[in-house]
Amino acid sequence: MQRIFFNEVVTRDGFQNEPDFVPTDTKVELIDALSQCGYAKIEVTSFTSAKAIPMLRDAEVVMGRIRRAPGVEYTVLVPNVRGAERALESRADEFNLVMSTSETHNLSNLRMPRERSFAALKDVVALVGGRVPINVSLSACFGCPMEGDVPQAQVLAWADRFADLGVRGLTICDTTGMAHPDQVSRLCEALRARFPQLQLTLHFHNTRGMGLANVMAAVQQGIDRFDGSLGGLGGCPYAPGASGNICTEDAIHMLHAVGHDTGIDLGRLLTVARWLPKVVGHEVPGQVAKAGRTQDLHPEPAYVAELRSQFA
Ligand code: COA
Ligand code: ZN
Repeated sequence: MQRIFFNEVVTRDGFQNEPDFVPTDTKVELIDALSQCGYAKIEVTSFTSAKAIPMLRDAEVVMGRIRRAPGVEYTVLVPNVRGAERALESRADEFNLVMSTSETHNLSNLRMPRERSFAALKDVVALVGGRVPINVSLSACFGCPMEGDVPQAQVLAWADRFADLGVRGLTICDTTGMAHPDQVSRLCEALRARFPQLQLTLHFHNTRGMGLANVMAAVQQGIDRFDGSLGGLGGCPYAPGASGNICTEDAIHMLHAVGHDTGIDLGRLLTVARWLPKVVGHEVPGQVAKAGRTQDLHPEPAYVAELRSQFA
């Protein structure tokens, strides 16, 4: 049995792909409900430009109004120095910086070459000056929807450069659901050997139905941190055809079934998950919220009792 830590990204990765604005009050209510479920981290929002991601234009207000639960870290996405200044004001517990390991994906998502992104993020690290722990999310680590393969050596080289800047953690993202379990095993093994001092988190999307298989492959390599999105919402507005993150409650249900401890109260989490379709105004991909847990048994139909006596 392993202790596994979850970071909930629905209000950032999930919401940034939703067409209709979720009111600020609802975001706060949702985050407050998630804070009671046993997460290690919640990625609350993104301090990006309101023009780029209008859904998250209320980042300051949300950060100011949520009730922070002891033991939960409230992390935020920070794209540049301007975002870092805003995040410092909002007293976020961790800054999550982001760039892509694929040049084409970086150009389409962040509108600049990777070297410029790296320089900008290095400026963020310098500005923060150790006041707040920094995590770096590396996108497209298992493949780029425009370039194809992203070699493992390329991922490790970008990881090295951020490790050298003194970051606390790295999140290895399968932004568009291209990873398969063998590839995940190989990369996780290499990362664990190379960065024993770093918090390593895996971020999978279920675009091609391999999300939970990839989680199992990572766990078997000793990875103990994952991003998940309530209901399986999510995607990347700058990656064609990208669909949802792995669904948190489905992943937790699976990890509990095989005997791992996640610290999450699944019953409570399912109550929140069943509210999510109302929040976003449509069905969501998550399955356990619809089917119930394996141990949530159905009453036996009346005719079964009749058959029993008939065959007794
Ligand atoms: N917070 C608020 N406003 C910001 C900002 C921030 N962190 N960064 C830039 N802006 C504003 C600027 O003030 C400027 O506004 P103006 O047009 O009114 O003058 C505008 O955004 C463009 O600024 P610029 O410095 O040219 O930034 P950019 O075009 O290089 O944008 C990003 C860089 C990264 C901020 C922008 O491309 C972005 O947010 N993209 C979305 C990335 C993302 O979150 N993707 C999903 C995560 S995987
Ligand atoms: Zn993602």
